[in-house]
Amino acid sequence: MRSLLLWMAKDQRLRETLPRMPFAQRAVRRFMPGERLEDAFAAADRLQDEGLGVLFTHLGENVTSLAEAEAVAAHYGSVMEQDRARAHPRGRVEISIKPTQLGLVRDPDACLAHCDELARRCAASGTWFWLDMEGSDHTEATVRLYERLAAEHARVGIALQAYLRRTAADVQRLLPLRPAIRLVKGAYDEPGTIAYRSKTAVDANFQALGVVIAQAAGRGEARLALGTHDSELIERVSAIAEAGGIERSALEVHMLYGIRTDELRRLRDAGYPAFSLVAYGDAWSAWYMRRLAERPANVVFALRQLLP
Ligand code: FDA
Repeated sequence: MRSLLLWMAKDQRLRETLPRMPFAQRAVRRFMPGERLEDAFAAADRLQDEGLGVLFTHLGENVTSLAEAEAVAAHYGSVMEQDRARAHPRGRVEISIKPTQLGLVRDPDACLAHCDELARRCAASGTWFWLDMEGSDHTEATVRLYERLAAEHARVGIALQAYLRRTAADVQRLLPLRPAIRLVKGAYDEPGTIAYRSKTAVDANFQALGVVIAQAAGRGEARLALGTHDSELIERVSAIAEAGGIERSALEVHMLYGIRTDELRRLRDAGYPAFSLVAYGDAWSAWYMRRLAERPANVVFALRQLLP
C-alpha cells in the first residue's frame, strides 16, 4: 500500500486530477487549513495564540520552468511582508521550501540565487529559512545548497532523513557549520541499497542521530528539530539527552498541521519548543498521497469522504 501510494504520488495525471475531485478536497482538509495564504495565516494566528511556533510551506515541487520558480520565490517574499505587517506578538512564521520548487533541477544556479535572497530576507526579518528534503535524487544537491547558504546566512535549516544510510555522514559533514537540522524519518520510496526499510531500523537511526545533534544543540552549536509525530521516539531521544545534561528546551518538536496536535500541545506543556508546519496551496496531491502512505487509516478516512 505504501509503495503504491508513493508511486501514485509521482504520477503526473493523478497529480492534476486529484485536486479536482470533491471527495479528495474534503479529505485533504484534515491536513490543510485551506489552499489560500489567508487560510494559512488564520491557522497561524490560532496556533501562535496557544504558544506554538509556526512554519509555512506553499505546496508544489519539481517546477518545469524558471518562470514558475520565480513566481514561487516572489510568493514567499510576499509571505514575509504580510507576516511582518501582521506582527503577531509571538513572533514570525518560519518558511520551509522544497528546493525543486525553486528550480533545483531545472537550473541549480537560479535555485541558489532564489534561496540566497529568501534566506537573506528571512535573517533580516528575524525568521528562519528551511530546506525540505525530497527524494534521494536530490539529496546531494540539497546538502550542497545548504552548505552554500549556511556559509552566508545565520538562519537557515535543512531537513535530513533518518531512513537514508548516508545521513549519519551528512550530519558529521554539516556539524562544523553550526547547522539547524530538522530530523525526519523520510517520506519517499527509497531502495534498500541506500535506505533502511524497516520501521525498527529507521527509528534506531533517528534516535542515534537525534542524540548526536542534541549534543551539539546542548553546546549551542546547532538547532535541532525532531520532525516527527512519534512522541515515544522524541521522549527516548530526550531522555538520553537529558541524562547527558542537555536541557529539554534545546530539543524542538516539529509536527505537520492536523496530525497529533494534542501530542504537540502535550509536549509544549512538558517544556519542548513546539512547532506546527502549515501547508497550503493548490498543488497538494503528491504531498497528500505521501501523507496517506504514512498511515493506512488515512486512506480509509479519504474513501469515507466518497459516501454521501
Ligand atoms: P511514524 O510514521 O512512526 O508515526 C508516528 C505516529 O504518528 C503514529 O501514531 C502514526 O499513526 C502518526 N502519524 C504519522 N504520520 C501520520 C499521518 N500522515 N496521518 C496521521 N497520523 C500519522 N519527510 C521528508 O522526506 N522530507 C521532509 O522535508 C519532511 N519534512 C517534514 C516536516 C515535519 C515537520 C514532519 C513532522 C515531517 C516531515 N516529513 C518529511 C515526513 C516524515 O519523513 C515522515 O514521513 C512523517 O513524519 C511520518 O513519520 P513519523 O515520523 O511521524 O512517524
